[in-house]
Amino acid sequence: MLVLGGTGEGREVAARLADSSDLDVVTSLAGRVRDPRWPEGEVRVGGFGGAEGLAEWLHENSIQAVLDATHPFAARITANAHQAAAACSIPFAICRRPPWPQRDGDTWLPARDLDHAAELVPTLGRRPFLTIGRQGVSAFAGVHGVDFLIRSIDPPSGEMPESSTLILARGPFDVESEVALMRRHDIDVVVTKSSGGDQTYAKIVAARALKLPVVMVSRPLAPTGAHTFDSPDTAAQWLESVRGSEHG
Ligand SMILES: NC(=O)c1ccc[n+]([C@@H]2O[C@H](COP(=O)([O-])OP(=O)(O)OC[C@H]3O[C@@H](n4cnc5c(N)ncnc54)[C@H](OP(=O)(O)O)[C@@H]3O)[C@@H](O)[C@H]2O)c1
Repeated sequence: MLVLGGTGEGREVAARLADSSDLDVVTSLAGRVRDPRWPEGEVRVGGFGGAEGLAEWLHENSIQAVLDATHPFAARITANAHQAAAACSIPFAICRRPPWPQRDGDTWLPARDLDHAAELVPTLGRRPFLTIGRQGVSAFAGVHGVDFLIRSIDPPSGEMPESSTLILARGPFDVESEVALMRRHDIDVVVTKSSGGDQTYAKIVAARALKLPVVMVSRPLAPTGAHTFDSPDTAAQWLESVRGSEHG
């Protein structure tokens, strides 16, 4: 079984199946983060070389099912995995955490994508808090007249906005420290992806407490027709059931 990881969900699935004597699970990481949180069990690191490379890898490693537990914004690997599993005629499913629900007191401005978010930011504030991961920061390089606070695990790649302060940190974060951070830096707008999950929800609660607008970047579309589970538990059960079925 191949679990495409790089998320807490991927690690949870791997941990749940680590002791299974029937299942041989390998988790794949892209190798983006310098010091990743390591899943239990077998792990491989690095790209496969597109959908075709992945199909070859699945074949060579006699993979019987693919669970895509990557981040909701990792759209390319999801599409590749869907295509490669179909090419190899093996079951494919997605484990995807639900997006955060908007609650009373939340002021959210939906953005279609990062470029759209970059257009919205200067209309909303002068001191934006950019928490969209290091890979997307360059989308904001052309935004002038604002002073960004940027937080990411590793330093952003690509062009940076002309005025910014960078904080390197990895969640989970708590509400108290998020409120303190936003106050300390005079944040007037928060920019985030619609990632969902507990690890980074504190910034949403902090923005609500401080009555700050949040630019919420929408998720890319998932492949149509793919089996989708919203928890590592149900996704792990699916892998076990696939093993026990005719495919196993
Ligand atoms: N995007 C985010 O906001 C975000 C946030 C947190 C964690 N992550 C994690 O970081 C990783 C990369 O994200 P991304 O947005 O750069 O992905 P992406 O744009 O969907 O994928 C780009 C390429 O990276 C390789 N890749 C991605 N995930 C992989 C995996 N789990 N194992 C092996 N190769 C992988 C593939 O290369 P080849 O075509 O060569 O196979 C893929 O075509 C993912 O595993 C994701 O779960 C992403």
